[in-house]
Amino acid sequence: MSLIEVLRKKTNNTLFTTPSHSGRFFIFKKFQQFYKYDISETDTHAPEEALKRAEKRASLIYGTNHTYFLTNGSSSGIIASVLSCTTPGDKVLIHEDAHISHFNAVKLAGCIPVLYKLPVDKNFGVYRENSVENIEPYLKKEKIKVVIITSPTYEGFVSNIKEIKTLCERYNAYLITDEAHGALYPFSELLPESAVKISDFTIQSLHKTAGGLNPTALLHSSCKIDPIDAINMISTTSPSYPLLATIEANINFLNSKKGKYKINNLIEKLNKLKKTSPYLEFGGNDPTKLLIKSNKMAGNLLSETLYKYGIEDERNNNESVLLLCGVGTNSKKLIRLQKVLKKM
Ligand SMILES: Cc1ncc(COP(=O)(O)O)c(C=O)c1O
Repeated sequence: MSLIEVLRKKTNNTLFTTPSHSGRFFIFKKFQQFYKYDISETDTHAPEEALKRAEKRASLIYGTNHTYFLTNGSSSGIIASVLSCTTPGDKVLIHEDAHISHFNAVKLAGCIPVLYKLPVDKNFGVYRENSVENIEPYLKKEKIKVVIITSPTYEGFVSNIKEIKTLCERYNAYLITDEAHGALYPFSELLPESAVKISDFTIQSLHKTAGGLNPTALLHSSCKIDPIDAINMISTTSPSYPLLATIEANINFLNSKKGKYKINNLIEKLNKLKKTSPYLEFGGNDPTKLLIKSNKMAGNLLSETLYKYGIEDERNNNESVLLLCGVGTNSKKLIRLQKVLKKM
C-alpha cells in the first residue's frame, strides 16, 4: 500500500490521539485536505511501514543503497550525512562560500572545517564547477575525512563527480555531493549525470526544480553507511505524513513516462529559446538553468529591466541573471519570457 493510500484509510475507531484536530477540525479551512491527511502513527494508520516501503522503492528507482525522504530540506540531509560519517575532531573540506548548512553540519558534528576556493567565471560573475585539480592540493596537505562539493552550482556548473570520487577514494575521504539544484538529473539522458550512484552521500531538494512542495528533499547513500540514525537524531518524532506522501508521488511522477517527457520537453523548449535570443549569452552546463548575460547591459540592470516587464529572477549579479526553471515551468511562462527577452 502506498503512503497516500494509508493516509486515505478510514477508521471506525474514535481517536483520542495526536494530532487533536483528528482530521476533522479545520482551523484553516483552505487547507482542509491537508488536515485530513495529517495523521499520526496510530494503530489505525500505522504509516511507518508504508514509509519504509516507499523509501525502499525509491532506492530501487535511484539505484542507491538507501534513499530517505526529508521534510526539512536539503539542509537537514547535509547535516545528517556529515553526522553519519564523522567523529568529532575530523577535518571536513568545504567551499569557503558554501551554503550555510555545510558550515552548520561541520559545527554540529564537532568537526574542523578546512576551506577551499573555487575558480570564478568572470564572464558570468559566478563560481565554476569543482575539479580534481582544485581539490587535490588540500587532500595532499592534511588528513581530510570528508569532502563536500556542490554540483550543480546554483547557476548550473556541473563537476565531474566520477573523477572527484576516485580522488576521494585515493585519500580515504568520503564524498558528499550537494545536488540540491539537480534533482531532475536522474530522470533524463539530456541532463548531466547525477551523483546519486557515485557519491557516498547525495542530497537533492525536490522543491527547487523537481516540482516538490517546500521543503521536501532526499538523502541518498551509495556507501556502506546507513544515515538513518543521524536523520532521526535531527528530526521530529512527529513527521508530516502529507509532505512525505507528496515525496512518494513526486518520485513516481519524475520516474514516469509523463514526468520524463515533461523534463525533456522543457529542455527542448529552453534550447529553442536560447537560439532565438541573439544578444544574450547563456552560461553553465545544465540546460534547465537560464544563466543569462547581455552584451548590452550589466546583470543588475538586466534584472531590473526584466522586472519592469514582470519577470522576476532567482539571482543576479553585476554580470548575469539566473532564471530558475523546472518541471513547473510551462509553455505559457516560456512564451512570455521569450517575448520579453527579444526586447532586451
Ligand atoms: C547549494 C544549496 N545547498 C543546499 C541548500 C539548502 O536546501 P533546502 O532549502 O532544501 O534546505 C540550498 C538552498 O538554497 C542551496 O542553494
